[in-house]
Amino acid sequence: MSVKRIAIVTGGGDCPGLNAVIRAATTTAIREHGIDVVGIEDGFLGLVEPRVRLMPLDLERVRDILPKGGTILGTTNRGKPFGYPVKQADGSVIYEDRSKLMLQRLEDLGIDAIVMIGGDGTMAIAQRLREMGVQVVGVPKTIDNDLSVTDYTFGFDTACNIAMEALDRLHTTAYSHDRAMFVEVMGRHAGWIAMHAGLAAGADVILLPEIPYRVDSVVAKIRERQARGVTFSIIVVAEGAVPQDGEISMMQDKYTSRQRLGGAAHRIADAVCDQIDLEVRVTVLGHIQRGGTPSHFDRVLGTRFGHAAAQLVADGEFGRMVTLSGLEVRDCDIQDAINKPNLVDPNGQMVQAARALGVCMGD
Ligand code: F6P
Repeated sequence: MSVKRIAIVTGGGDCPGLNAVIRAATTTAIREHGIDVVGIEDGFLGLVEPRVRLMPLDLERVRDILPKGGTILGTTNRGKPFGYPVKQADGSVIYEDRSKLMLQRLEDLGIDAIVMIGGDGTMAIAQRLREMGVQVVGVPKTIDNDLSVTDYTFGFDTACNIAMEALDRLHTTAYSHDRAMFVEVMGRHAGWIAMHAGLAAGADVILLPEIPYRVDSVVAKIRERQARGVTFSIIVVAEGAVPQDGEISMMQDKYTSRQRLGGAAHRIADAVCDQIDLEVRVTVLGHIQRGGTPSHFDRVLGTRFGHAAAQLVADGEFGRMVTLSGLEVRDCDIQDAINKPNLVDPNGQMVQAARALGVCMGD
């Protein structure tokens, strides 16, 4: 059966380049294949809440969105079709499976396939929907770059550029004031942003989740630089960085009461500050890394991914996720993308290069 109408959904946290994918997938579907396109609003919420919320996508609607950060469709990392949170009278929350409602609505709306743009959580949902018979195509998105099979996810390059620029700026104030600057970057359990931004900005210490650190090692590096007359240091801390004798740093979000990653840079700064003869400052970059206009790389990657996803739909190739392999856009089975995360290799070339340049990796 040929596809006449598709839906596009953006799930999980936003990231730069989502609109490039939406634009390219919509334009390819309409211009090349005569397929009608709608967007589902706010992740899957637009299909599982009492009122259906769809955004018609045509050439006019996707014009001018290429450089725009975020997603015109809205997104959420809650409201999964298999676990929709419903607040009870006593304030507690129960999670309802609304996947059957969603399937019914897809049928009623004449939607033949869904292009799902998201990270590992969204791809896991895509896999489950696929097992229920939904025709899905995945597009990998995340600033964390932690999805395997694809060499890069879009959003990662922009996040690294933002982190790099922040590190450059902190560098000039660090040397002016003789300070040790601890800078926390995002990435969840993968150290890709810390590794790339740290290397690009010439950091002195880079702490990754993949290489558990010792406080002594960080202290020794800062002291060694001071002994050489360099009276400042830049320490990049991945939010998932973990001490050799400790756990990942989690905190309860003050506003939502949910647990989330946080506190890694303050923890190491607290442990180091009494042992060095430099003033210490901590900067947590946070969501700045996810905001704003996509880099050239992410615009091109998003555009290529969006085009390839629409092409897969038109070819009837469902259950696939588009990937970047070297310089080529290819595709893989969605299941392969969620089998294991993509992490920095502690013995890989990047870490070796950093060590050779004298960067302390914390071990
Ligand atoms: O997965 C992307 C990411 O930005 C992570 O790097 C970070 O830990 C998390 O999302 C933050 O999530 P939230 O936007 O819910 O605070």
